[in-house]
Amino acid sequence: MTTVLEALKKNCKNLLNINIKTAKIDSEIILASVLKTDRINLSTQHNLILNKSQELLMSQLMERRKNKEPVAYILNKKDFWNETYFVDQRVLIPRPETEILIEMVLKKIKDKSKVLQLLDIGCGSGCLLISCLRELTKSIGIGLDTSSDALAVTKINVKNYKLNKRVELHKESIFNFLTLKKFDVILSNPPYLSSAEYDNLEIDVKNFEPKTALKGGHDGTSHYKKIITFASMSLKKNGLLALELGDQQFFKIKEMLAENSFRVLDKYRLINGEIRCILASKIG
Ligand SMILES: C[S@@+](CC[C@H](N)C(=O)[O-])C[C@H]1O[C@@H](n2cnc3c(N)ncnc32)[C@H](O)[C@@H]1O
Repeated sequence: MTTVLEALKKNCKNLLNINIKTAKIDSEIILASVLKTDRINLSTQHNLILNKSQELLMSQLMERRKNKEPVAYILNKKDFWNETYFVDQRVLIPRPETEILIEMVLKKIKDKSKVLQLLDIGCGSGCLLISCLRELTKSIGIGLDTSSDALAVTKINVKNYKLNKRVELHKESIFNFLTLKKFDVILSNPPYLSSAEYDNLEIDVKNFEPKTALKGGHDGTSHYKKIITFASMSLKKNGLLALELGDQQFFKIKEMLAENSFRVLDKYRLINGEIRCILASKIG
């Protein structure tokens, strides 16, 4: 017989032993999901005794975490902005810093009930496009991704949030994408790790998240030139281009923006000072 408190202590210790820094929170999230409750409720249930099936499920999920599988894949969900997205190994797990792109875009849009046309290049789980569309309640959007696996997950999330009528999905590379449509907002969190950064990734990321969502060529900038030249032709006047990027790529991307007559309107730095998100608009 194991109580909630005993299970938490044991699981946390097991994860700490293999250097998982998020051992405490991971153990709590996994146990809360087994008990179908919220993490914050666990502290009031310390003496609760787990039944046999709960113990079995917990040990199966903990085994996966011990193999370094990210919690989001184990539980098939990740919170992002105000939503919870279905995720599995077919898509990148949405990151909190990506939410900044949404914040930057929303700050510039005064009338949120206007009909705007959005494009998300490399939509993955669909988190950027869907969270934006849930804020911009009359807007419509296109999600583009090369990966049919990723698009299958986007589709699940579009359906979960009942956005089928407002979202079009295209299995296409930005390098081949042609459209006559003009966009008010283009968002993209493309793959941007350099080869060296990719090689140094933690096992949790490298062994589980899709390579095609992470690797951005030798210096990590392989997608930006195409995204920026596409945006320069396909954005409406005063349209917004919101990009996530790696700090090391910033100067090169800033040059690409200037060459294509874009002005940087906003920059977001992480706590360590690294630039992670930018918002730009075309001059003239
Ligand atoms: C870093 S992930 C971003 C996923 C999601 N937008 C997010 O922010 O969590 C990049 C996505 O771009 C897609 N991708 C990679 N190369 C692409 C290309 N040439 N054209 C369109 N999408 C591409 C990948 O399949 C992946 O889903």
